[in-house]
Amino acid sequence: MFKLRNTFCLLMALIVIAALCACNSQEVQVDDVDEDTSLIVVGFSQPGAESAWRVALTDSVKEAFTEDAGFKLIYKDGQSKQDNQIRDIRTFIQQGVDYIILSPIVETGWDTVLEEAEEANIPVIICDRNVVVSNEKLYTTFVGSDFSEEGKKAVDYLEKEFPPDSEGNEPEVNIVHIQGTLGSSAQIGRSKALELALEKHENWNVVAEDCGEFTKAKAKEIMKQVLREVRSSDIDVIYCENDDEAAGVIAALDDAGIPHGEGTGMTIISFDATRKALEFCLNGDINFEVECNPLQGPYLVDMVKLLERGESAPKHTYIDEGEFTKDDLTPEFIEKRKY
Ligand code: AHR
Repeated sequence: MFKLRNTFCLLMALIVIAALCACNSQEVQVDDVDEDTSLIVVGFSQPGAESAWRVALTDSVKEAFTEDAGFKLIYKDGQSKQDNQIRDIRTFIQQGVDYIILSPIVETGWDTVLEEAEEANIPVIICDRNVVVSNEKLYTTFVGSDFSEEGKKAVDYLEKEFPPDSEGNEPEVNIVHIQGTLGSSAQIGRSKALELALEKHENWNVVAEDCGEFTKAKAKEIMKQVLREVRSSDIDVIYCENDDEAAGVIAALDDAGIPHGEGTGMTIISFDATRKALEFCLNGDINFEVECNPLQGPYLVDMVKLLERGESAPKHTYIDEGEFTKDDLTPEFIEKRKY
């Protein structure tokens, strides 16, 4: 009888401990990881699905990390919140994935969770945008875009479009600046290039600036507001930090019946070079497109394979990216474009 009661108490205690553990782990939902141990398990944390570009990046990663290629991919969408991405990385750590791929919404604020990944011995590959951390050892490698270089291409184009006159006098250039998600590498690099150009050209002025969050809806709203405050004839350039924002700006201008793009005196610059944006460019609605390449899946697979072989990865790999004006484009080229 005594033994039975003891066993019963022990059982109850175990149930209580198990329940407490369950409560404590409620913040982190742990899905089952595939039992097939031959697959390399990769957790991929995306900031969200704010743009056509990002959807193309997600597709590229999903197409590259297939089971046929030897991978089990766990994809998490952070719904445009850093806290969600941090929670998703903690989930990957609990699941014991082999690699974590992080496309960070902003550059800072990752130290703690990356330290947790390091303690768990999980290599972290940063993709698309970069992070700024106290110790670069907190991530293994970075694969993505050089956003400063992208911004420089846009500024070089503007410098050619608005040259000084024969006496060296610079024209006045009034710019509307629609920024991307503040604090993201994409915004920082592209905005910085414009800021440097403003320091260099004293006749270049920003007449309006706001953050479009890399979305069409927000950029359209901003542009409508700008048109209430600034005469359209006073706007020479609209510098959109991605194609979704450019689409929003174009929609606002079209609604207001304002001509824009080629031959109108209102130059539109955009980044990404998605298929839809290249169509705008070919039609003359967008003057200059700086490419940002989302087809990063194969590069990331190569990186994982290299690490699997025990080789060391380069700290930074920047993907090749081009630039386009109307003259570089044909309908056939755009038709064949993957994103
Ligand atoms: O980080 C890349 C940027 O993020 C792309 O320009 C944009 O479209 C995306 O949302």
